[in-house]
Amino acid sequence: MGRGKRHAQGNRRGVSHDSDRPASDATRVVSAGRRPEWTQGIVNPPVWRASTILYDNVASLRERGSNTHHRLFYGRKGTPTQWALADALTELEPGAAGTFLYCSGVAAVAAALLSVLSPGDELLLVDSAYDPTRGLALGLLKRMGIRTRFYDPLIGAGIAELIGADTKAILMESPGSLTFEVQDVPAIVAAAKARGVTTLIDNTWATPLLFPAIAFGVDLTILACTKYVVGHSDVMLGSVTAAPGHFERLRDTSFQLGQVASPDDCWLASRGLRTMAVRLKQHEASALTIARWLAEQPQVATVLHPALPTCAGHEIFRRDFKGSSGLFSFVLNGGGETERAALIDGLNLFGIGYSWGGFESLALPVDPHRYRSVTRRDDAGPMVRLQIGLEDPDDLIADLAAGLRRFDVAKG
Ligand SMILES: Cc1ncc(COP(=O)(O)O)c(C=O)c1O
Repeated sequence: MGRGKRHAQGNRRGVSHDSDRPASDATRVVSAGRRPEWTQGIVNPPVWRASTILYDNVASLRERGSNTHHRLFYGRKGTPTQWALADALTELEPGAAGTFLYCSGVAAVAAALLSVLSPGDELLLVDSAYDPTRGLALGLLKRMGIRTRFYDPLIGAGIAELIGADTKAILMESPGSLTFEVQDVPAIVAAAKARGVTTLIDNTWATPLLFPAIAFGVDLTILACTKYVVGHSDVMLGSVTAAPGHFERLRDTSFQLGQVASPDDCWLASRGLRTMAVRLKQHEASALTIARWLAEQPQVATVLHPALPTCAGHEIFRRDFKGSSGLFSFVLNGGGETERAALIDGLNLFGIGYSWGGFESLALPVDPHRYRSVTRRDDAGPMVRLQIGLEDPDDLIADLAAGLRRFDVAKG
């Protein structure tokens, strides 16, 4: 048996080669989705670009049209480049039925919601959702006659009281954007299942490696692959992975919307995926070192990192997550916009910019109160969000220490 063949069979059984021991996450990200029958043994699927696919005759065209799954048909239905990435993401979610890919994380959120909701339905959306997700709910979905009610990220089993006759979906994001509240996903899923409500989660922060959402009972799990899957800050991409019984509707809706992810972007994302487990370990270690250091600084009022007890939902994080990633926020002790800018503007190693999950560190001024409807914060000062990259954490700490000194000087 050739090596490639063994790899492919190992993938499909979800076990490591030559044993029945379940493959670890690090092993699965290396082998997931690799199919020698598509690539003839080339390790990474090359970029297969296509719109037109030619057929030998009318009969073969008709025959192919009746079964297009993982068969070249027309460019919008994908090529092995996209199929391999989608299959890899499915393999990383134990119990999942399939994955569809999108041109961005926001496009993935939109397709997932549109596959579930119809006019007259109600969506329950966590109050700490990513701002453009809120924008989708309050814009397009509202225009379509779909109502949104926001809920407290710490609601847990209390979500049952919000579920009404029209509630069709609950969209979680855990930890939440900017403020990192960890949600009680099992409690919310249990309440939803009891009432036949579909659950969705934006799992971008944890990825399936740190929180296998489908195994936790979630119906549709969304990743902005732009972040940790790609890992190099050079591609926009999204995915939705579905539990059995939910994939067909997701796929049909996505095809009807004309969604297709570029093969070039999928190729880069597949490259990124192979190192995701090892990158996440480093992001985790460095971010924890820096978060703990920040928590001891007098200029810092509080650190919002799910692995620290100062973060709301920390106990749930400890119960449910396999680890943490590299994004968190901290609140400054007093000061305002000018003092915060003094800290951020002089940083040498932290770029100022949106997004996260790449190899480079970023610092961003964030104002979560602008994006909340049913929860209020009473913070001691302005907030900064940090994406901790792969630089040496001691260098990053030195950079932040100088920033905190500038903050002190600006405060006077
Ligand atoms: C939690 C979360 N979800 C979704 C997105 C959207 O992803 P994209 O930028 O690929 O549309 C982002 C982007 O920052 C995000 O932080």
